[in-house]
Parts: sequence; structure tokens; C-alpha cells
Amino acid sequence: MMNEQQRQEASRIRQGEPSDIKSETDNLERLKQTSSDDFVKYFETTYEPPSLKSAKKRGKEDVEIHYDYTIPEEMQNVGDGQKYMIRTYGCQMNEHDTEVMAGLFEEMGYTSTSDTKEADIILLNTCAIRENAENKVFGELGHLKSLKRENPDLILGVCGCMSQEESVVNRILKKHPFVDMIFGTHNIHRLPHLVKEAMFGKEMVVEVWSKEGDIIENLPRSRKGNIKAWVNIMYGCDKFCTYCIVPYTRGKERSRLPEDVIQEVRHLAAQGYKEVTLLGQNVNAYGKDFDFDYGLGDLMDELRKIDIPRVRFTTSHPRDFDDRLIEVLAKGGNMLDHIHLPVQSGSSAVLKIMARKYTRERYLELVDKIRTAMPNATLTTDIIVGFPNETEEQFEETLSLVEEVGFESAYTFIYSPREGTPAAKMQDNIPMDVKKERLHRLNDLINKQSAETMEKYQGEVVNVLVEGESKNNSEVLAGYTERNKLVNFRGSKSAIGQIVKVKITNTKTWTLDGEMVEEAAEVK
Ligand code: SAH
Ligand code: SF4
Ligand code: F3S
Repeated sequence: MMNEQQRQEASRIRQGEPSDIKSETDNLERLKQTSSDDFVKYFETTYEPPSLKSAKKRGKEDVEIHYDYTIPEEMQNVGDGQKYMIRTYGCQMNEHDTEVMAGLFEEMGYTSTSDTKEADIILLNTCAIRENAENKVFGELGHLKSLKRENPDLILGVCGCMSQEESVVNRILKKHPFVDMIFGTHNIHRLPHLVKEAMFGKEMVVEVWSKEGDIIENLPRSRKGNIKAWVNIMYGCDKFCTYCIVPYTRGKERSRLPEDVIQEVRHLAAQGYKEVTLLGQNVNAYGKDFDFDYGLGDLMDELRKIDIPRVRFTTSHPRDFDDRLIEVLAKGGNMLDHIHLPVQSGSSAVLKIMARKYTRERYLELVDKIRTAMPNATLTTDIIVGFPNETEEQFEETLSLVEEVGFESAYTFIYSPREGTPAAKMQDNIPMDVKKERLHRLNDLINKQSAETMEKYQGEVVNVLVEGESKNNSEVLAGYTERNKLVNFRGSKSAIGQIVKVKITNTKTWTLDGEMVEEAAEVK
């Protein structure tokens, strides 16, 4: 049974308050849940969704940076001759976490496979952002059940953002008891220990930390590809947009130190990578947690001097997009003038209840500032339709903003209530057919704008970072321009990994076709 101390700890954790837990060993001992039954009972009787109020009390716990990570010696060969597979859902942050877990597996002796039948261990690195993202994972668990029946030695794990939700953990315990381990976003570095426990223990291993998050440096990484790389510059989110689960699943905002980021980018440049994308849920809040004055603009100004052709970042929040950042981006060089700037809605009234902390007018002012400094900037965005109470007029304001800004592409979503977020307390009162119809109209407009932008490239010569053969045709190479336009073209395979000049011969809604004109000796 859980003792009183464990209960209090779990209760603090559930409410998103700082935890007392300091050392990893204590953590493990206390949170290594006694038995699944206790766990289920506990959550059935006392479960409360995370609340905005208590989560906002965050900030009391110091962020610790750990530089001394090593895999215990006894775990270094545990995977010899065995195969791992990680299925990743969600954003780039999750994709990059997968690279870290892959690195950990490989240091344990495992090799990767993409065939579920061949795998000795399968992890689902999950996303909680919308209901359909979660449904995909529960569907996949259903499929994996039969695999587990055929191969009882298979270790099945669930990690990522869904694991940070108590209701999900509870549901897995009750409905998918064949899962061997569940762990969250704050303790992926504990993977070797958890694998060991899952291998040798009988109970499901559940280790989800709700501490506000530390930073673990020098974790191994097995990166996908050797041309483009992701670099985390910060973790977590403190924005608490009312619809969004991320602040609860990823902990508080915490930035990696500039020198650690700069060193990683230098290292990637030395290894021959051509592009880095700096990652953060709220990437331009970088440095706000430092006790010295330093922001994303300052960091970018340092990265400008590194000999790597392209530096991108995602995702920035309009509220934190400051003049210093614009000034540095305008210097050009390896700073690309493509900015992904999620607006979510074109209506100030909707933005207010979303708690985005800007109005339509402020967003447009920011766009003006960016365009003045970078006349050729490409802007892309994220938009949610069908937020509670969104009227037809408010939705039309979104359409008019999309036109006014001239977004070249957008990720568009139907609002999905997330348990525990403030918006989920509002009635989800826009009928699904209206939501779908709005999404449709919005997508039609975005498609039109994208196609028009693409048409302007006809006959132009663009710089393409060649990533490899096109998905559908091995005769054709594919890569992206500085502005993130996908180009398919005929050219020599020796161009893979290079930045080459391509003349555009045909344009489509989302892609460009062309012919390589020369291998660029020099990169802008
Ligand atoms: N940190 C980023 C985005 C993270 S999530 C930012 O603030 O811009 C990616 C996108 O998912 C969001 O921009 C939003 O458009 C969408 N999204 C988040 N929560 C959602 C929800 N509950 N329903 C529908 N879409 C959502
Ligand atoms: Fe979610 Fe982005 Fe808002 Fe953070 S800033 S709460 S990640 S939508
Ligand atoms: Fe999804 Fe978590 Fe990313 S909820 S969008 S995987 S931060």
C-alpha cells in the first residue's frame, strides 16, 4: 500500500506543485509504485485533473543542470543482440526525444528495427495535444496486444506526453495491463534503469515525475540523418494557453545555457551537418529564466558566427518576439527568413479567452515590424477553428487575417478539449459539422495562398539543401529551400547533403519541380 508520505508526495505531484523529491534514488524508491492495484485504487479515489491555479504556482523549485550522465556499467551490454523500435507521435520535440532514447538504447547494445515482429522492445513516444493523437496511441496498443501474446518476452513501453496525464496512466493500468513500462517526459534519461526493472520485475513499471523538470546535458543521441539536426534550447512552457495541455506535460520553461547550445551547434557543424533547428515549445522565451539578460536574439547572434549554412528555430510565440531577435534575423547569413509564428485566431475576443496575451492588432504590428526588417520573410502559422463560442464573424476575422498577413502555409486544427485545461471547462459548443466546414474554408484559402506563392518561383533559381531521393521516385532528388519549400528535381546523387542551385520548371500547391543548374560552391 502507499504510505502517507507517498500519498502526500503523489498528491503534490498531481496538482502540479513542486515536489520535495531531490535525488533520483529517492525518486525511484518513492515513485516505484507499489503495485498496479494500489495505483488504480489511488487514482480512482483521489484523481483530480491538473489545475491551472496550482500549476501556476510553479517556479519554486530550482532547475538543476546535470552534466554527469553515464549509463551504469551493468546496463551497457544488456541489449546485445536485441532490437528496439520507437514509434513517435507529435511534434519535433518528441522526435528529438526519440533520438535521445535511440542513443540510450544503442549505448546499451541494442540495434534499431522498423519491423515490430523483430523488435525485443517497443516504445510508443506519445503526444497528447488533441484527442485524435491519443486515440491513435490507444489503437496502436490494441494492435500490439496480439504481438505481446505471440512473444511474451517483448517489452512494451509508453512514454512521452500522454504518460504525464494521470487519466492516461490510469486507463493503461486498467485496460492495457500487458504494457510493461510507462514513463514520462522528465525522466527519459532513466530509460536504462526502467528497462532493467521491466526485464526483471513482474509488475508494470510506472515512473512519471511531475517535478518541474531538470536539464540533463550530455545524453547520447542517435540522430536521424546527417544533414539536418535538432537542438533543444529550452524545455517546457509557462504560457498556459487555455486550450493547451503542453504546460502540464512538459513542465516549466527552462533554458539550456548558451555555452552548451553553442558547443552542440559547433560540434554539429564540425561533423558536417548543414542545418540546425533550435527547438522549444516556446522557443523565443529562451533565457527568460536566466538571472542574466540574454535572449534568443543574443543566442542567434552567436550562432550566426558558426560555419553552418542554415539555422532555424521553432516554435516562436508572438508575445515573446522581441526587437533584438528581429534585428539579428535581419542580418541574414545563416539566419533564415522563414518564421513560423502561430496566431491561433484572427479574433481578439477569441485570442483573449485562449489567453494568448496579444490581440489581432498587436499580431499585425509584429508582422509589419518583421516585414520592414526582412522584406522577403516567409510567414507560416498554426490556427485552431471551433474554439468554444467562436462565432461565424470571429471565424471570418481569422480568414481575413490569413489574407492580410499572406501566410504561405499553415497547420490548421479543429479545437479538441483537453481534460484539465481551463478551456475544457467551457462548453465545446460548436457542432462538429460547423467546425469541419470552417476548417475546410480555411484550408481552401491557405491552399490558394500557398499555390500563389509557389507560382512566383516559376523560372527562378533557388538554393536547395538536398536531403535524398524523393519518396515516390528514386530518380528524383528532394530538398528544401531556405524558405522551407520542398523541391523535387533531377540531379546527380552526389548532390545529397549539399546545397545546390535548382531552376524551378513547374509549381504545384505545396511543392516545386526543377532542374539542378549547378552544385553551389558557395552558400549565401
Ligand atoms: N508551442 C507552440 C505550439 C504547440 S502545439 C505554440 O504555442 O505555438 C501545436 C499546435 O497545436 C498549436 O499551435 C495549436 O494550434 C494546436 N493545438 C494545441 N492545443 C490544441 C487543442 N486543444 N485543440 C486543437 N489544437 C490544439
Ligand atoms: Fe501550448 Fe504553445 Fe500555448 Fe505553450 S505557448 S500553452 S505550448 S499553445
Ligand atoms: Fe504533442 Fe507533447 Fe509535442 S503533447 S505536440 S508531443 S509537446
